[in-house]
Amino acid sequence: MSHNTIALNKQQQPLDHLDSVWLFGYGSLIYKADFPYMQCKPACIYGWQRRFWQGSHDHRGTPQAPGRVLTLIEAPGARCAGMAYEVTPDTFEHLDHREKNGYLRVFTELHWLGEPGQTQGLVYLASADNEAYLGPDTDAAIAAHIASSAGPSGPNSDYLLQLAQALRDMDEQDEHVFAIEQQLLKLLK
Ligand code: SIN
Repeated sequence: MSHNTIALNKQQQPLDHLDSVWLFGYGSLIYKADFPYMQCKPACIYGWQRRFWQGSHDHRGTPQAPGRVLTLIEAPGARCAGMAYEVTPDTFEHLDHREKNGYLRVFTELHWLGEPGQTQGLVYLASADNEAYLGPDTDAAIAAHIASSAGPSGPNSDYLLQLAQALRDMDEQDEHVFAIEQQLLKLLK
């Protein structure tokens, strides 16, 4: 699958018939909401875990030297916390462009944090068959890759450090993110 998913998202999943849509963010969408929204609530999804396994050609790296950003990997029993935003369907013009590097929108069940209830929401997933996918590596190798990458949205290290801080602000643990953050901080010293 091509790494540019703008057309595919539009064609596979028209949203115009809906009044509003919940979007679940687990990466930069947690700490960088550069779009209008009606409300925003912490939420989690089950059966998925965050992994720095996706290449970034357009935000935290370049086509010649891609950075490393997050995607979600299926993992039975796992829980991934993030931020949910209620947006109008036209907001996906902007979001599809922002998440164009290999991410497809998928509907999944969102569970609110701190209050009962759940709803269907969209999440952007970059699966292993997209051209920008990098796959697993050791925490140390991922940290070294992140330390040496930068793109139009800034240093790759900012992506990781801002995410780790946002998770701590939400009182959330993520072993994968925090382990790579520790390795990165050693390299940045
Ligand atoms: C997300 O934040 O939900 C998608 C991945 C990213 O843009 O970091």
